[in-house]
Parts: sequence; structure tokens; C-alpha cells
Amino acid sequence: MPKEKPVSFSGIQPSGNLTIGNYLGAIKYFPTYSENYKCFYCVVDQHALTVRQVSAELRRCTYETLALYIACGLDPEKNTLFVQSHVSAHSELAWILNCFTMFGELSRMTQFKEKSAKHADNINAGLFTYPTLMAADILLYQTDVVPVGEDQKQHVELCRDVAVRFNHIYPDTFTIPEPIISQSGARIKSLAEPTRKMDKSDPNPNAVIYLLDDRDTIVRKFKRAVTDSDTCVKFAPGKDGINNLMTIYSCFTGLDFAAIERDFAGRGYGDFKLAVGETVADALSPVQAEFRRLMADKAYLENMMKKGAGAAAACAARTLAKVKKKLGLVLI
Ligand code: TYM
Repeated sequence: MPKEKPVSFSGIQPSGNLTIGNYLGAIKYFPTYSENYKCFYCVVDQHALTVRQVSAELRRCTYETLALYIACGLDPEKNTLFVQSHVSAHSELAWILNCFTMFGELSRMTQFKEKSAKHADNINAGLFTYPTLMAADILLYQTDVVPVGEDQKQHVELCRDVAVRFNHIYPDTFTIPEPIISQSGARIKSLAEPTRKMDKSDPNPNAVIYLLDDRDTIVRKFKRAVTDSDTCVKFAPGKDGINNLMTIYSCFTGLDFAAIERDFAGRGYGDFKLAVGETVADALSPVQAEFRRLMADKAYLENMMKKGAGAAAACAARTLAKVKKKLGLVLI
């Protein structure tokens, strides 16, 4: 069946509280696709199982991630918002794609190497084959574009390689997706170690600004952000801490680095950190208010989940049936 519109697909793991990294690298851009793309945004709860989760926390984070999608501007009438485990085609296609993905390819994934170093006592098969589940997420919807932060680019590229390989054997099965990495917010760094990415599962809460942090916490964390011993607000190589703060400020205000440097000429880091904190807190305040409103209405969120799962399952079933038929699996 020809597509009415190109397809956008992305996902977020409910593996902790979302950060401004998730926001500036991904969610902020999702609503911009609503008009010209058919959009699917997924809460990828099965990906979260690759590290040990506390059941009640995973459940809470799943509701919260869905609520944050909506609070950050995704209209459920214009986008299909759903939870991965509600559409069983994801795990079915993931198995099939496992048989078309090479051990060597999965071994090269940076995230696998990092996570296995971090969870040395739990290097499970799911952690290793995580990218094939992600490829299934994307390919099931005949996706054209995948808006993600820089850290997910390698996974989307692997997904492309697997899709090309599959199409080579069974022509015209999958659309080959393109990763879309934003120019500005795709690599938000930790406030404590600004050479590393800001990560929702960072054990140091001061390294991370969560979307649900209150105003005082946000301002305090930015005040304590690690910077160099210089005092001049200027974007320059090697000044990772201040570069990161300037990037965050630029993403939230729309000002370019030259304008920021002009505005803060002759003022120290202290003034700038305060401005960044207040700006971020102001920008997140309406998101937080909408989030609280949504979380108070679980019935609404559950209704959204059901509606989203129904719409997603209908699309996914078409691709899965096509794949099974091409492979020679008997359909009844
Ligand atoms: P996850 O849950 O780690 O992150 C969700 C999105 O946020 C982006 N992101 C960042 N962007 C900029 N700076 C940061 N510090 C930062 N931290 C996170 C991520 O790049 C991502 O876009 N495997 C994926 C989830 C996934 C997925 C998919 C994404 C599963 N299936 C299919 C796209 C398509 C992940 O763990 O994202």
C-alpha cells in the first residue's frame, strides 16, 4: 500500500527520569514532524529490561514518559503514542532480525561496550541484541526518518545495514530509514563531567537536570556545574563545561554563541550560570504543570495507551505479515 505521508519514528526508554538531554536531543523536535509525517513515538519499555529494573519504578516511568511526550507538545490526535510491550510484533520481528544481524556488528556497538563495562555482573543477551529490537521498532513502521540524539546514530546505522541486507535477499521489504540528528542539542553533557553525555541513569543527580526538577534544584545544579578556571563566557575548544552550558542556553533561548558572548561580556561565570538555571527553569515550568495535570488522570493516559497500541499494532501487523510471507513462514 503506498504511504500517504513519510513516516517518523522514535523511542525513549522509561529507565529513569527524563533529562534535558532527552529533551534537547530528541523530544523537543518530535512535534515539528506532526504536520508532514505520519508519526509514531514509543515508550520502549522492553529495552529498559536489559538492565535490572524495580517493577514499580518501571511502571511509574512508563506512565511518566507517556505523559511527558504529551506535556512536551506531542498531540495524541496527530501522533501515535504507544508503549512497546503493547505491540507484540516488536519482539517477533526482533527475533527474525537477530537472524540477519552479525555477531561482529553487535560487538562493535559503543553502547553495548559501555553498558557491559557498567553492568559487568549482568551482561545479558538482551543487552547484546538491544539494537535488533531497536531495528524492529523502526522497520515495522516503514520508517523514513528517526529523530535521535547523537548517541543513537550508530544504532540507526546498524538498523539501515540490516534492512539493506534483508532487502537484498527479499526485495522491497523495508523502507531504509535516515537518522536525523539535530545540529544543536544532540550532545548534551553531564554537568559534573562535561566530557561525558548527560545520562538519565547517572548515579550522581547533580550531573543531570531532570525535566521534573523544581526551580531551586535546577538553579542550584547549574550553579555547581563544573567549569574551567577562566571567567570569560566564550565558546572555545577544551572548555567543555562552559561550552555545554552555552549549548544548553542557546537551545532554550534561540541565541547563537556570538550573541551569548556579547550579552555576557565582562560578566563572570556566576552570572551566566544563574541565567542558564533561571532560563531552563522558566522553560520547563509549563511542561511540568501540564505533566502534573496529566499524571493526575491515569484513566486518560491508559486510554491513550490503548488507542496508540491499536493504531501501532495495525501498521506493525502489515509489515510483519509481509516479512513472514517473504521468509516462507506459513501464514494461517
Ligand atoms: P534513550 O532513552 O537513552 O534516549 C532517548 C533519546 O534522547 C536522546 N538523548 C540525548 N540527546 C542529547 N544529549 C544527551 N545527553 C542525550 N541523552 C539521550 C537519545 O539519543 C534518544 O534520541 N535506544 C534508544 C531508544 C530507542 C529508539 C528506538 C530510538 C529504542 N528504539 C527506535 C529511536 C528509534 C535509547 O536508549 O534512547
